[in-house]
Amino acid sequence: MKEKLQAIREKAMEQMGKATSLEHLNEIRVAVLGKKGELTQVLKSMKDVAPEDRPKVGQMVNEARQAIEEKLEAETAAIRRRLREEKMKAEVIDVTLPGTRNLQGHRHPNQIALDDLERVFIGMGYEVVEGPEVEYDHYNFELLNIPANHPAKDEQDTFYITKEILLRTQTSPVQARVMETGRMPIRIIAPGRVFRSDEVDATHSPSFHQVEGLVVDRGITFADLKGTLEQFAKEFFGPDTKVKFRPHHFPFTEPSAEVDVSCFKCGGKGCRMCKGSGWIEILGCGMVHPKVLRDCGIDPEVYQGFAFGIGLERVALLKYEIDDMRLLYENDVRFLRQF
Ligand code: DAH
Repeated sequence: MKEKLQAIREKAMEQMGKATSLEHLNEIRVAVLGKKGELTQVLKSMKDVAPEDRPKVGQMVNEARQAIEEKLEAETAAIRRRLREEKMKAEVIDVTLPGTRNLQGHRHPNQIALDDLERVFIGMGYEVVEGPEVEYDHYNFELLNIPANHPAKDEQDTFYITKEILLRTQTSPVQARVMETGRMPIRIIAPGRVFRSDEVDATHSPSFHQVEGLVVDRGITFADLKGTLEQFAKEFFGPDTKVKFRPHHFPFTEPSAEVDVSCFKCGGKGCRMCKGSGWIEILGCGMVHPKVLRDCGIDPEVYQGFAFGIGLERVALLKYEIDDMRLLYENDVRFLRQF
């Protein structure tokens, strides 16, 4: 019995000394001290021991159990310590390593130009409104004094959906929609996407953006239009910018004009940007035609208005000196990242 106990104890001690994991130690504990463990078996066979020897054997079993438990505890603690050290080592952060750069999103040049434009007009008390991209012929042409068979309809090659429904060719129909509500006075800009069946090249695209402007109130004159657009040009392109109004024709305004700004690249001397002329065309405008006011339910004897239409891509390209509109639509991040 004594030898047996000794053997169990030595074997357990040796195994525990070699154990490398907590699981391993637990297996040894179960095999030796568990319900069916070797040491427990010895206790169970005490009945075979002569009564006078039992206290002695009992003491030996207890000593063995105590020694094994102590060793178990010590080994468990050692393994735990080692595991913790390994974990700490693995989690060490080298603060001197270069960081990984996160790619940041950018506003599109169109959006930057639009935000800037909105800032200027909101500063002058305008409200930003939107209209539908799928529009009725009625709003896109009819109410704007462009009746069926009018040559201006050909100038704006239209994507028709049905005979009456189309993709708007301009943001001007938003004018008619706002006037129709009859809420006076009106002071709005209406940015948005427009569509024309144009071939793609450096200055054309079947889909681009315009910003419409409309002011209607009592006693509005051409002087208000000039002052407003001059102020816009100075705030948007720089304080030294000069504006020039050239007579033009639009069916929905009378009189109408196109507006040029002095070239902000060369200051008017003439360069590649302004094709040597010193001036750059940026928008169309005019006094709202009395027929348009009347057709939209406004009495032209009481109210007058002015309107303008800006090509957003055009001013974005100018402002950032981009020479090909296609770059704005290709979404190459190497290009977009520059703005
Ligand atoms: N809608 C015109 C176009 O697409 C631009 C325009 C010109 C709008 C004069 C206006 C305006 O409101 O008064 O060519």
